Amino acid sequence: MSTLFEPWKLGRIELANRVVMAPMTRNRADVAGVLPDSAATYYAQRAGAGLIVTEGTQPSAAAQGYPGTPGLHTDDQEKAWSRVADAVHAAGGRIFCQLMHTGRICHESLIPADAQVVAPSAVRADVEVARADGVMVPAPEPVALDQAGIAQVIEDFAAAAARAVRAGLDGVELHGANGYLLHQFLSPGTNVRTDAYGGSPENRARFVVEVTAAVADRIGADRVGLRISPGGQFNDMADKGNEDTYLALAEALAPLRPAYLHTLRRRSSPLHTELRRRWPTTYVLNTGYLGGSELDDVAPLVGAETDLVSVGRLFISNPDLVRRWREDIPRAEWDESTFYTPGDAGYTDYPSWQGSDA
Ligand SMILES: Cc1cc2nc3c(=O)[nH]c(=O)nc-3n(C[C@H](O)[C@H](O)[C@H](O)COP(=O)(O)O)c2cc1C
Repeated sequence: MSTLFEPWKLGRIELANRVVMAPMTRNRADVAGVLPDSAATYYAQRAGAGLIVTEGTQPSAAAQGYPGTPGLHTDDQEKAWSRVADAVHAAGGRIFCQLMHTGRICHESLIPADAQVVAPSAVRADVEVARADGVMVPAPEPVALDQAGIAQVIEDFAAAAARAVRAGLDGVELHGANGYLLHQFLSPGTNVRTDAYGGSPENRARFVVEVTAAVADRIGADRVGLRISPGGQFNDMADKGNEDTYLALAEALAPLRPAYLHTLRRRSSPLHTELRRRWPTTYVLNTGYLGGSELDDVAPLVGAETDLVSVGRLFISNPDLVRRWREDIPRAEWDESTFYTPGDAGYTDYPSWQGSDA
């Protein structure tokens, strides 16, 4: 019997079930990085998830890598997030904000004129990035962060986390997956530094450990999660064979006891078994892209391989996914063409199931 629908204690909060809505960028924010009121509706509609992890959100203006992503570094952005937090809580849900610095996956037109596209090392990604006007162009060569730059990014994450808590959000998830800045530090292909942040597995893990520690120090470790994608190749990453870095990361973070580790994986492997064994608190698994995210795919994993599972696209088209799973109600299909388009279509207009309502 799966324990998917049973409660779970996550840090200082109680989750109603073990299904997490995975972080998903939806590009509905305005040019100032402020979410529209419809974002509160969108997230509240999905409050039946045990925990919502929001779309990737920039902790500073310099951290933005896509048009229309929200920020959490101005008062107006914080106010919009507090509307989201209030709406989700009123609907009985829990919500962490994903903080994302895109590093080298960024076009300079998206960031302030005095900011630079940064990364651990000056290694260009062989991908296209979006300009502020939405046109896709080759990624620029990033500038390697110096010590002062590293300290600034760490402070930006901590300051954004403080704003998240002030806005009433339950915590933050640090985006260490999918080829963005934190992942770029972890990977030997993107991190060729010769200082304390590169070279050995422990050194490659150092930046992520320092970001996590600084955020934990500001808002409490039990309000901080971390997402990783070991071996992930998205955004021109060469992360295969990098298991030692992830083990060093888990080792260094374990004494801090962050709220959770959220791992994207395609299939089970010795690394994942070992990560879960070493991780002292909640473990979250996303088997999405290749392993599948339907009930039959994820329910057997809960209790056996993970504490919680996260699910992405099904939550876009099924705001009441957990109820549909529990009551065996058919699931609606998502429409990819509206994942990233402005407006309410494909955002707040997927209905909850009405069929069997008494
Ligand atoms: C529209 C869309 C946007 C996404 N944006 C993010 C993001 O901002 N941060 C992140 O960590 N993952 C992001 N992802 C990855 C999802 O969190 C998830 O891992 C992926 O969709 C696979 O799970 P699924 O098969 O259940 O959808 C995104 C995925 C989709 C489909």
